[in-house]
Amino acid sequence: RNWELAIARGTDPDDLLSAHDVADRSRAGQEVVAYLHALIGQRRAHPTDDLLSMLVGVEEQGEVLTAAEVLGICVLLLVAGMETSINLIGNGMIALLRNPDQLALLRERPELTPAAVEEMLRYDTPTQFTMRVALTETTVAGHTFARGDGVIVLMASAGRDPAVFTDPDRFDITRYAAASAPRRHLGFSLGLHYCLGAPLARMEAETAIRTLIARAPGLSLATDTLTYLPSLIHRGVVSLPLDLSAD
Ligand code: HEM
Repeated sequence: RNWELAIARGTDPDDLLSAHDVADRSRAGQEVVAYLHALIGQRRAHPTDDLLSMLVGVEEQGEVLTAAEVLGICVLLLVAGMETSINLIGNGMIALLRNPDQLALLRERPELTPAAVEEMLRYDTPTQFTMRVALTETTVAGHTFARGDGVIVLMASAGRDPAVFTDPDRFDITRYAAASAPRRHLGFSLGLHYCLGAPLARMEAETAIRTLIARAPGLSLATDTLTYLPSLIHRGVVSLPLDLSAD
């Protein structure tokens, strides 16, 4: 978790990082690579039914993945999949606890959990923005981007767009409930780089939230003060103390 936090912090533009952040990212990167390297060796010797064994298996069939590629894929999956999923669950729980009517509704109708997770991705999305480069001259909302210009896409802001969403600042777990409702938000981005892990992330969040709510009938926030990660890209709390007592 500490490695992942240091690497996640390091995904912000370097200009925003302190020398300490940069050193931390570099140390964490080296340690993760050493850890994964050892793990890859173990899985090569004793394969199990996990993803890493499968990746190593692909490599050993003589083509496609070199050792460096297996390592690269593992680091990518770890970085892309961990902080984001943690923050979806955390931000989603905060939204529910701050909107007790919605929490009560979800307790009453747990079948709304998938729709609630979509709303969490819209309302308080874990990945705040991404970056693109304009491949051709393009005009968006009256602004012309020249070919090669960098573009920052504020996905979190898009989730609150009043031109798209009715009452966008309201957390409403029924917003995506109709079978015909498109899962329209940019929480997993769009296009070529659409999140590879979206189905897994949805499943993780649904399972965690459904289970937590079912097991802790008296769930509440155990603090009034939440500290957010010092990150521009990732939105989430450093920790989320919850009171799980029964009443
Ligand atoms: C709530 C959880 C998650 C959120 C909010 C999220 C969000 C995103 C976003 C916004 C992008 C696109 C970035 C862009 O367009 O520039 C992305 C890409 C990606 N995500 Fe996720 N992600 C989540 C979970 C996961 C998980 C669990 C995995 C894998 C286990 C994963 C793997 C990836 C990968 C590999 C990409 C890069 C795809 C590409 O560039 O073609 N993500 N994710």
